[in-house]
Amino acid sequence: MLRRLTPDQPESFAFTDANMAWALEQIKKYPEGRQASAIIPLLWRAQEQEGWLSKPAIEGIADMLDMAYIRALEVATFYFMFQLKPVGAVAHIQICGTTSCMLCGSEDLIAVCQEEINEKPFLPSADGKLSWEEVECLGACTNAPMAQIGKDYYEDLTADSLRGLLKEFAAGNAPKPGPQNGRFAAEPLGGLTSLKDKTGEAHNGSVGLAVAIGDSVKRIDGSEVPLWVAPVPVGRQEAVAEKPAPKPKAAPKAKAKPAPKVEEAPAVEFSDDDKPALLDAPNGEADDLKKIKGVGPKLEKELNGAGVYHFSQIASWTEKEVAWADEHLVSFKGRISRDDWVSQAKELAT
Ligand code: FES
Repeated sequence: MLRRLTPDQPESFAFTDANMAWALEQIKKYPEGRQASAIIPLLWRAQEQEGWLSKPAIEGIADMLDMAYIRALEVATFYFMFQLKPVGAVAHIQICGTTSCMLCGSEDLIAVCQEEINEKPFLPSADGKLSWEEVECLGACTNAPMAQIGKDYYEDLTADSLRGLLKEFAAGNAPKPGPQNGRFAAEPLGGLTSLKDKTGEAHNGSVGLAVAIGDSVKRIDGSEVPLWVAPVPVGRQEAVAEKPAPKPKAAPKAKAKPAPKVEEAPAVEFSDDDKPALLDAPNGEADDLKKIKGVGPKLEKELNGAGVYHFSQIASWTEKEVAWADEHLVSFKGRISRDDWVSQAKELAT
């Protein structure tokens, strides 16, 4: 399927304060210079906030991670979980149309979506609240046919049960996810043949947690959903669902062990001779430094600001000059030597 950005784009994108704080925490999980690895969680959070991924959101996140825009666009356009144009404001219904679900009636479910939402996938219903699409196997084949709605799975569906769910979502309710035919989980349709003792839980683990968190189709705008939710013990989910999510208890204080002494690396001393030649302005037209692997728009700006405009400048750096530049010029230390900018620049300069 051809996945392109919609021509109707908003002017700008900004994370809410809470989501920005969350995003910065995600970035910290990766080692220096590998921040680009946070691209998927950040794009996902932007989609959770806005409902879909706009060009300003993708580019803004690329800037945060110091990635070339094309790299972030590659990720956003490759993965089908990212919606590149606005979908239903309340819920986007993803009907699995792969073999098990098709054999068990997914075509009937699609017909319901066409009737109740829109003849065409991805287009919103008349009231703008719902949209739908057909997706590939979502890995819940034993409970076919099924659909993913927001973050949760709705399984063992029939045309009638799906119709009922759509009504509930459109009315602003969040119906209970999981099997819709009375099954507890993925036990045989004809009933249990072994391990017959019921444990007394109202829901299986996934459904229980989904009910407790209750954010299936809510936007995460930073106000209604905690950034981390304590796992709810099986069997307590319903009781918890009526209360606000419990605050995680402070872990008991462990007896403080003296931290092992870490030998600090001696600070590198630089002299003026180690500083590479920097320019006040480019000689003619500046080179596109983003062609160097590891240089994104943000690093290019930093390099230009420091007086580096040309491949030939970087190509001529000695080992000492690279060490100086790694220390003084760019925000992620060690990046210049690790990505071997000098060899790259030599090739680009010729
Ligand atoms: S075929 Fe539908 S979930 Fe696997």
